[in-house]
Amino acid sequence: MPSIYARLTGFYRINKPYCLLLAAILCSPVHGQNTLVPAGQNPYQPDAFPDRIILTATQNPAITQSVSWRTHAAVTDSYAQISIAGDSPALHLTAELVKGKNSTLDTMNGEGRHHQVVFENLAPDTLYAYRVRGDETWSEWFQFRTASDDTAPHTAIYFGDAQNAVKAHFSRVIREAFSTAPRAQVMVHAGDLVNSSAGDNHDDEWGEWFDAGSFINSMIVNVAAPGNHEYRAQESGPRLLIPQWPVHLPAAGNGPAELMSTVFYMDYQGVRYITLDSQQALQSDEMLQIQAAWLRETLSNNPNNWTVVTYHHPMFSVSLGRDNPRLREHWQPIFDEFNVDLVLQGHDHTYGRGENVASGASGQLNGAGPMYVVSVSGPKMYMIGDSAPETMDRLAEDTQLFQVIEFTPEKIIYQARTVTGQLYDAFDIERLVDGSKRVTDKRPDTPQRLCTNPEERTGSSCWGGNSHTELDLDHAH
Ligand SMILES: [Fe+2]
Repeated sequence: MPSIYARLTGFYRINKPYCLLLAAILCSPVHGQNTLVPAGQNPYQPDAFPDRIILTATQNPAITQSVSWRTHAAVTDSYAQISIAGDSPALHLTAELVKGKNSTLDTMNGEGRHHQVVFENLAPDTLYAYRVRGDETWSEWFQFRTASDDTAPHTAIYFGDAQNAVKAHFSRVIREAFSTAPRAQVMVHAGDLVNSSAGDNHDDEWGEWFDAGSFINSMIVNVAAPGNHEYRAQESGPRLLIPQWPVHLPAAGNGPAELMSTVFYMDYQGVRYITLDSQQALQSDEMLQIQAAWLRETLSNNPNNWTVVTYHHPMFSVSLGRDNPRLREHWQPIFDEFNVDLVLQGHDHTYGRGENVASGASGQLNGAGPMYVVSVSGPKMYMIGDSAPETMDRLAEDTQLFQVIEFTPEKIIYQARTVTGQLYDAFDIERLVDGSKRVTDKRPDTPQRLCTNPEERTGSSCWGGNSHTELDLDHAH
């Protein structure tokens, strides 16, 4: 009778290729998945220097502003300084020291401490400089302008899913957007900022997201809705919000108690930005109803000129094989009743824009309902579904996009641009004297963009999103 050792040795000798493959899969480092980080490298460990510095929404950004950042865990106090921005470098003489709160989070990159300070009692429409504290050091000084306390023009940038290979591919989009609209005061993210495919061990993806946005995130207020990829499956029960979300993107704190980390609104110079959590709505009837009730209340008490709603899963899907009828059943009637103007969504990895009049026919821009938009900023690309032309007036496959949206008291001026800065879609929404709206389609007369990967696309997919991992140095010129 052979020993167990001999049996195992024999098994290994016969099945060596399969054993090595299995070992490689089981032992492959999490670093490097969906990112540019090579195996064995840890570029995103927290340290003495503050990083991931980001401005996020508050209910009243005319007088308050939230900033969050990360250090290593040894920095136990959260300090920031803020001053009205002057032309002298002597900001330290006029700066006020503000103490905030923090919490720790242990990830693949080690234990970090996540800090938040909310600057209060600010003057409206005023340029401020601020910096945040690390371990015996500071960040650089950043500038931001508070919102006006009255209705006034401003510009927002809106991004669909970044999600995959974020540093490789989303960087180009957010930097082109910033170059196009450098005075934008709001950035809207419609979910799936990262992929989170490896459970807790996806912190490199957040490192890349903050690398891509860099100082832009520290100067412009971010309004972000979570997508399905910011939720993590459990062994049983509903998906749970990943722990990075509330520390990197703290909500404004005015949502329903059950969804305080993801549902909120911000009033910015005559625009009410509302953020909903469609992942929670689609996985729980209770969370769907809670948001519907909160939405009704929030829209009932809305003195702003315009209303923009952001969430992840589209009301009218653009991509093949996707549909979210429960959102149409429970949210769309509220959008219609309260005359929501713009709905900014993600998830479908295509572009689609349509007014969705009651008939469902496209091309009938009569201002009857909200304008629904689906967009994508990252590299994962899907195919347009057969029914999309029935609900959308402009469509695209295989195109990284950003949207620049200008709000004035009388008009919304919307432009979707490709990553190379080309105008791909445009429309205006005007408020008429009688309170009704007029929509003017201004899309350029260019062909609808289609998937350019006919050989490799499979089913609903055009590009998988991780093509940067293919490294072929044999064909260098
Ligand atoms: Fe998604």
